[in-house]
Amino acid sequence: MNKKMNIMDRIADSAKSVTTGVDAKDIEHWVTIYVMGRAYEVPADLTILTAMEFAGYKFVRGVGCRQGFCGACSTIYRKKGDYKLQTGMACQTRVEDGMYLVQIPFVPAEKAIYDISKESYDVNAILKHYPEIARCVSCNTCTKACPQDLEVMDYVQAALKGDFKKAAEESFDCIQCGLCAARCPSELVQYHIAQLARRMYGRYEFPEPDYLKKRVKEIDMGKFNKEMEKIMKASKKELVKLYAERERESD
Ligand code: SF4
Ligand code: SF4
Ligand code: FES
Repeated sequence: MNKKMNIMDRIADSAKSVTTGVDAKDIEHWVTIYVMGRAYEVPADLTILTAMEFAGYKFVRGVGCRQGFCGACSTIYRKKGDYKLQTGMACQTRVEDGMYLVQIPFVPAEKAIYDISKESYDVNAILKHYPEIARCVSCNTCTKACPQDLEVMDYVQAALKGDFKKAAEESFDCIQCGLCAARCPSELVQYHIAQLARRMYGRYEFPEPDYLKKRVKEIDMGKFNKEMEKIMKASKKELVKLYAERERESD
């Protein structure tokens, strides 16, 4: 950003439309969506995220990976003629004609602070930090709200029974979007509970893999020191090149 810009110019600049490269004359099918109550005509077939950008919204927060992994683009929406409020990720959900929507980029849920090495490996750790878990009424609303199709209620129940392995495995694909917590009538913070369960399981039960032991030994013996020094001294341009040309794991 230009450092000489004054605050009013910066506000005007941040409000500029984002062009998506779509030329309006080439678009055959349009739908109307309502973002925070205001109507916009957008091309059919776009995701909520790209449709909002087409409509002129510029995301500074509330977007990250654009691939359904980071959990930043939570959205609550209602379809035309339907009374139900639905939840989804803006980068993964297609717009529909008459859709009403609003972004929920962050859920201000409380997150416990703890030292995992000082916790006892049983349900007391969960009850100490998240006592509200005992209020779960098994309504399954969290499961229905989850854009990852996780069995959220099941992992909460597993955590409540002190079954950290099950809670960790069932919540493994959680992207921390917060939508389950936003809809829970008992005000649980399912994803933070799951994170504690995964940490407990990882710390106390999951066997330390051999490849990890081997890699830690290699690091301790200085195997990567030269390479690290090279990276620390590299310019931004060199780092960008290194990143672009990095070896990738095959699918
Ligand atoms: S929404 Fe809340 S109360 Fe309902 S099952 Fe999920 S955790 Fe339990
Ligand atoms: S479990 Fe909750 S926070 Fe995790 S992905 Fe599902 S809705 Fe989002
Ligand atoms: S932008 Fe990351 S999940 Fe949508």
